[in-house]
This record gives sequence, C-alpha cells and structure tokens, in this order.
Amino acid sequence: MCGIFGCILREGSAVKQITEGLKRLEYRGYDSVGVATIDHGELEIRKDAGKIEDVVARHRILDMKGSIGIGHTRWATHGAPTMVNAHPHADGSRSIALIHNGVIENYMELKEELLEKGHEFKSRTDTEVMPHLIEEELKTGVSLQGAFLRALRRVRGSYAFVVLSTVEPDKIYCARNESPLVIGVSENGVYCASDVPALLPYTNKVNYLRNGEMAVLTLNGYQIIKISDGSTVERGLTDITWSPESAEKLGYTHYMLKEIHEQPSSLRDALRLQERYLNLLTTFLDRGKEVFLLAAGTSYHSCIAGSYLFSRLARLTTVPIISSEFIERYGSSVGIDSIVLAVSQSGETYDTLKAVDYARMRASTVLGITNTVGSTLTRVSRAYLIQQSGPEIGVAATKTFTSQVLVLAQMALKLAKLRGKLSQDELDEFQEKLLRVPEWVEETINKQEERVKELAKTHMDDRFFVFLGRGISSATALEGRLKLMEITYVPSLAYPAGESKHGPISVVEDGVSCIFVCPQGDSHSHILGSIMEMKARGAKIISICEEGDEQVKKLSDEVVEMPREIPEELSPIVYVVPLQLLAYHMAVLKGLDPDKPRNLAKSVTVP
Ligand code: AGP
Repeated sequence: MCGIFGCILREGSAVKQITEGLKRLEYRGYDSVGVATIDHGELEIRKDAGKIEDVVARHRILDMKGSIGIGHTRWATHGAPTMVNAHPHADGSRSIALIHNGVIENYMELKEELLEKGHEFKSRTDTEVMPHLIEEELKTGVSLQGAFLRALRRVRGSYAFVVLSTVEPDKIYCARNESPLVIGVSENGVYCASDVPALLPYTNKVNYLRNGEMAVLTLNGYQIIKISDGSTVERGLTDITWSPESAEKLGYTHYMLKEIHEQPSSLRDALRLQERYLNLLTTFLDRGKEVFLLAAGTSYHSCIAGSYLFSRLARLTTVPIISSEFIERYGSSVGIDSIVLAVSQSGETYDTLKAVDYARMRASTVLGITNTVGSTLTRVSRAYLIQQSGPEIGVAATKTFTSQVLVLAQMALKLAKLRGKLSQDELDEFQEKLLRVPEWVEETINKQEERVKELAKTHMDDRFFVFLGRGISSATALEGRLKLMEITYVPSLAYPAGESKHGPISVVEDGVSCIFVCPQGDSHSHILGSIMEMKARGAKIISICEEGDEQVKKLSDEVVEMPREIPEELSPIVYVVPLQLLAYHMAVLKGLDPDKPRNLAKSVTVP
C-alpha cells in the first residue's frame, strides 16, 4: 500500500496541502516520499528515501511552486526504498510525472517493449513503465487523455495512478483498479487521494473511483470515464461523516479489524508475485539437501502450514523451526547443503536474523519471504520474495499470515511442477483453487462475522480455550490460539488434536471450550474422533467446518460454517479468518485495545 495525494487549487500552494495530506496517509507506507508540481508550465519533482518530515526538510519541498501537484508516500513492493525508486516517476522527456499504488503484473514485458523503442529507465520499480508508456502513446498524436487510456488498457494488475503533465498543465488524470482512489471537491479546489483521511481537512464531499474508471480533474470539477470503452460515468458527490481519526482506519474502529477486512485485497496482491523471484527461490529449494523454514510467532505458524504444502504438493520434506531454537537445535548440523527459508513480516525480528546470520556463517543458503522491502532480511538473503501485504499496523498479525501461507502455497505448486510431482490436470486444478482464495475469504467475512460476534459474546467470560486441528489445520489452530491469547490475554492451549491422549486432555473438563478446525479432507475422519474425545469430558465444542458438514455439526455445540470446495491444503488461509474475528471481537467486548496489546511490539527487534 502507498499513500497518494493530488490537488488543483484556486489559491495557495499545492505543496503545502500535498505534504499535509501525505502525513495523514503515512500509515499506508513510509519508506520514501516524493512530490511533483507544475508552475508556469514547468514540471518539478523532488523525492527521496526516508520519512515524510525528513525528505520534506532535506529537499526543501515546501519551497516548490505551483497550485497544482501530486505526492506519494511509499511502501515498497518492487525495488528497495531509494531516491531513484521513490515516486513520482517521469517519462524520458520529463513532461509527465506519475505516482502509483499497487502492483503491475506485466511490467517486465512492457519494459522490454519500451527498452526496444529506446526508452531508458532509472529505477527498479514496476511503476516507471507507465509514464514511458503514456509518452509512447502520445507520439501517435492522441491527446493526453487518449494516451493515458491506451496505456491503461495495456496494464494488468492493481493500480491507483495519478498523472501530472506539462502537456495539459491545468489537469490531473487518475485511474483505479483495486487500489483505492477517492476524489474530493471543495470551494478552493479539487483533490484525489488514496483514502479519505487526507481529504477531510479540506472537504467531506467525495466520490470514490471504482475499478476500471479514470477521472480528469480540473478547477471546474471532475469527469469520470470508463477505461474499457471511454464512456462517461455520471456519479455525484457523497458526504463523509467520519472524524479524521476514525477515517485513518477507513471507519473501522481498529487497524486490526481494517486489516482483517483487507485480506481479500492483500491476498490478490499476494497472487501477483514477481515470477522471476518465485522461480529463483523454487530453484534453490529444489537443490537443497535439507530445507528449514525459519520464523517466529505467527510467521512460524505460516511455516508449519508451508511444511505440509511442500510435502503434499512437491514431495519435499521441510523442517519448520522456531527462530530462537534454531542454533541450539540445528546449529551443529546445518552446512553448505542446507537451505534456510526465513519468513518474517517485518524482516527485522532479532531471533530470526540471528539464526540467519548463523546459517550464513555455516555456508547455508538463506532465502527470505518478507513484507518489508529494504528490511535487513532482504539484505542478508541470497534471494527473497516480497509478500505485498501493505503495512500492517495492528500488533497482531492477520493479513500478513494469510499472505505468507498463500506465497508458500504458490512456491510449493511451482516446486511440484519443477519436480514433476503433480500431473498437469492436478497443477491446473490447484492453480484455479489458489485464485479463488480471496473470494472465499471475502465470503467468509461477509457471511460469518455476525455469527462470530455472537460466539465472542457467548464465550467472553470463558477462562480457558483449547484450539485443536489435525494435519495442516494444526497450524490454523496454533495461529487462532495465538490471536486470542495475544489480544484478550485469555490463557489458551493449541496442539495437533491427535496429541490429546498423550497428556493435554487432562486439562479438559466440564465447560472448557474446545475450538476445532475441521475442513473436509484427509484429516476429517480423525478430527471427528478428537471431537468425541473432548465431548465425552464435558467440553463445549465449537467447530469451524464446511457448510453442511452434518457429521461435525451433530457433534458440536456451536459451529461456524465455511464456504464449500476449499481444499484442505489452502484451508489455513480461510479457516483462520473466523478465529481472527473471534479474537478481535472478544478483545473489544472485554474493553481491550486489539491494536496495542500489553507487553507486545509489532516487531521484536531485541533478544
Ligand atoms: C503475531 O501476531 C505477533 N505479532 C508476533 O508473533 C509476530 O508474528 C512475530 O514477532 C514475528 O514477526 P515477523 O513476522 O515480523 O518476524
């Protein structure tokens, strides 16, 4: 996610409102910043890596002239946070400045085509192809609007684009596909921004652009055009009643809830991985004599799910290991034939980085999956993948967990293909299921949140919970338990259900709530036995099961029914959502702040 802001003013300096607007969007990304303005027909761009206030001071951005401009605060997905990778990006003639939020899937092919036509690129970003594409279309003699439309029709992926150009210096062009973009109108000017918080100090009269729409902003207002056929869309302004503070969470009470609801979108971006890096990591995994999946906390739970996926799909044995245990446990045995795949949302977790350093010292190959471009993990990894979840502000990981599992699923599928472990039909079928994951998560949120709220209310005074799952669902159970403990502080237990009779079942007694994760699949028949075991000891049975699963429903006191056809291998991504919502709503009912749980930090960068 990145923060975008643009404005055309009747009076006053654009750059002042742009920098104020970007500051209110800082939660959307904060590793680099840039502004472009036009004054007397001259386009100026100032940008750099760093926080907004630092870059504004360092480059005296407030000195920029002009009553029209655009600005961007970045959360890197392609290319580390550096000056050259910061937005805005310009075309070769420097008459077009463009900012972008999203992921251009086909940027490599577009870039190669433009390179052949003599275009030169300065950055490693996907975004930079866009101003050059517009420049190329302008050469055919069409208007800037025509060139922008043609370029948009060539792009695949998610975007919120905003364009400023000396070709038409009194207009701002913008376009949206999946990444949010909202237009605002006030007495003094016309605006566009990623989110409402940036607009509220100037206007509460807004118009949300929809997917596949472009807009032209002038001092007279705005015109919305359909990208597909160039037809005009008539849609008036709506009034926003949020306070600026609540608007930062887009009306959600907490970032955690916003981030849970963002998962359909963040999962779609997790399906837009950079193919060449996915291939590179897969090649390394294929060569390793032994593969460790290294992580802490929620990321470790992703690794547990990943180990099932690598085994089931690619017949590759991997060892998930908690970062703080790695050196003591495997430090003497890892070596040049070992692959260590470190998974870390922040890319800065001390335990994970310490284990990585040790593995490198032992000549192992270190690979990385992270959400943070430019993080330490990206610098110490031989190769890495960015999961593209956007900033996660809530301390409890939610969207970054589901994206990590989806990334690992794609890697396992890629490896299965490389190793010839699945038939083409099996590969195609699983790929189709992968693409349906965002819609399953969306359906679950829309259909089950009210049900889960009731569960939270019913069980808010429970003093203890047991989370159980079998097979890959043991990862889901562990993650659901961590969410609940982290933000409601209620002691909870989670382990593979088959382990119950080896001791843990002794804590189960009348009234203890047992939450079972039981998708359809190979483990389903076993989980029925586990449910009966707990039921016989008086436990309250809460089951997360497939819609219409009468076997489980008959044994359960309460159920949350999930969409049909979700393959067991992908179930952690979808079945964790009710558990995230349960933890969140129970914390709120208890009067706790889910975004800032006691004793915890978002990134544990200390030993
Ligand atoms: C999860 O909700 C917690 N925030 C915590 O367990 C976290 O997953 C862990 O500290 C690892 O963080 P990382 O992914 O940034 O390495």
